[in-house]
Amino acid sequence: MALALAAMSAAAAGPTPPGGITQSAFGKLPDGRTAEIYTLTNRDGMRAGITNYGGILVSLKVPDRQGRMADVVLGYDSLAGYVHDTATYFGALVGRYANRIARGHFQLDGHRYTLPINNPPNSLHGGTEGFSRRLWTATIVKGTDGPAIELSLVSKDGDQGYPGTVHARVIYTLEDDNALRIEYFATTDRDTVVNLTNHAYFNLSGEGSGSMLGTELTIHAHRYTPIDKTLIPIGALAPVAGTPLDFTRATPIGERIGADNPQLHFAGGYDFNYVLDSGGGAAPALAAEAYDPKSRRRMRVYTTQPGLQFYSGNFLNGSPGKQGHKYERRSGFALETQHFPDSPNHANFPSTELKPGQTYHQVTIYRFAEPVRG
Ligand code: GLA
Repeated sequence: MALALAAMSAAAAGPTPPGGITQSAFGKLPDGRTAEIYTLTNRDGMRAGITNYGGILVSLKVPDRQGRMADVVLGYDSLAGYVHDTATYFGALVGRYANRIARGHFQLDGHRYTLPINNPPNSLHGGTEGFSRRLWTATIVKGTDGPAIELSLVSKDGDQGYPGTVHARVIYTLEDDNALRIEYFATTDRDTVVNLTNHAYFNLSGEGSGSMLGTELTIHAHRYTPIDKTLIPIGALAPVAGTPLDFTRATPIGERIGADNPQLHFAGGYDFNYVLDSGGGAAPALAAEAYDPKSRRRMRVYTTQPGLQFYSGNFLNGSPGKQGHKYERRSGFALETQHFPDSPNHANFPSTELKPGQTYHQVTIYRFAEPVRG
């Protein structure tokens, strides 16, 4: 029934019915191909706008306790905004390897692979033309708990320097209990490395509402991977205890962001991979919680991944986004579930290798508290 409704509504024009999906053109790429945008609406009226360009989560309209809606992710109104922006990765599906690989090199099976240096001196987020800049193939699928779309992509052997032809698949489901579930799959025909994530920037008072430094954040991680000045892990897993990186108890993001700490200086704020206490399991475990006292919206993040990159939007520079809103430094934060940065160069980190015959599978859920009823 839900599928029938979703499938029917896909073709229909006009407002999205509850529990349904609508599809429309989002814009044309420079090469003439059209990118689509899918609007998923759940039974509560929560909405997610997703384009098959970069698999980008364009908008996420979430109720507060009184049921008032706000779009809680930063981004652009048009496809052109995303195409021109090569720096922020707003809402994008990031691959083949999320975050940095030191100096664009890694060894696998005795071969040395070379990747684009798009964040000198390192390779970032899969290279210059990573998965976040590809047109994925989208289909509406039967979601178990709400409307769902599947995005798929073939990344050829040698793509951005990585070995093996990789088939990647991502299912976005907007669950009826106000959760956005993102399920990732990948296979390969040669040994390779894979690390996929979503790079949404959240502001729980709504994109364009200014600073997010008052957001109270909890990260269920007692350790992190310290970095050098180029933001590459030095290889250790260090305790957060006694440092401004400790979010094991809910703390406003802004409370210690200006502390005199060498790690904060390297990153210009928070930009760290946390080693999740209960990460790496078969079922998604609670990784982080964000509560915004202004809007009283609450978001919980669950994942099967072992790591979480907490990035406090340090490189945002006031450039205009949706409706011309200026996205100043720290007006959005990202909680990117992932394997650790630069894992191919660290034998002591959980492995990111994928071999023929194996299926990469990860799940991340961004769950929002439902409005108070009655
Ligand atoms: C990740 C990185 C940051 C930054 C952003 C994109 O979050 O860790 O350093 O590069 O992506 O701007």
